[in-house]
Amino acid sequence: MRLALYGFMGAGKSALGKALARRLGYSFIDLDEAIEQNTGQSIAQIFKEKGEIGFRKIEHQTLKDFIKKNLDNVVLSLGGGTIIQPTNRQLLALRQYKKIYLNVAVPVLIERLKKEKNKRPLIQTIPEQDLAAYINALFISRQAVYEQNADLKINIAQENFDQALEKLYLHLNLN
Ligand code: S3P
Repeated sequence: MRLALYGFMGAGKSALGKALARRLGYSFIDLDEAIEQNTGQSIAQIFKEKGEIGFRKIEHQTLKDFIKKNLDNVVLSLGGGTIIQPTNRQLLALRQYKKIYLNVAVPVLIERLKKEKNKRPLIQTIPEQDLAAYINALFISRQAVYEQNADLKINIAQENFDQALEKLYLHLNLN
């Protein structure tokens, strides 16, 4: 089985994906990490030098290269914007990825992202006082695509990491 985790920045895609893969005995790939390895640049550097459009091209190409490998038994953690691009969704469909939407409550995302603002190119330049409104608006602009593409949706509000992992694992319904 091939699983792709997606959802907004700060949803925990990378950490939960990694833990889920370990639990299932699957390989784990984080798309942002693969981009950084392939380019030798951080996501922040890519945004700075090539802008979001340049980043999206690299993101698509990295996903394409990965999909070509045709791996099975894999958990793939996507970036927050990956699923928004129809061409990326086509790539996932090519290999019948089960798309799992990690739907974390927006107030929780805002709290997490406040602490990590400087690591995130999309919100780095937003003044502190505008951050909540900005995140809210970006989330709303993506919400329909997030909702419509979910083969499985996991709602997370106050659950801690272990509880979220358990919920994710149980909802996969593998037994
Ligand atoms: C982005 C999310 C980031 C990263 C890039 C763009 C987005 O990934 O791909 O900064 O458009 O939401 P995470 O969701 O893993 O932070």
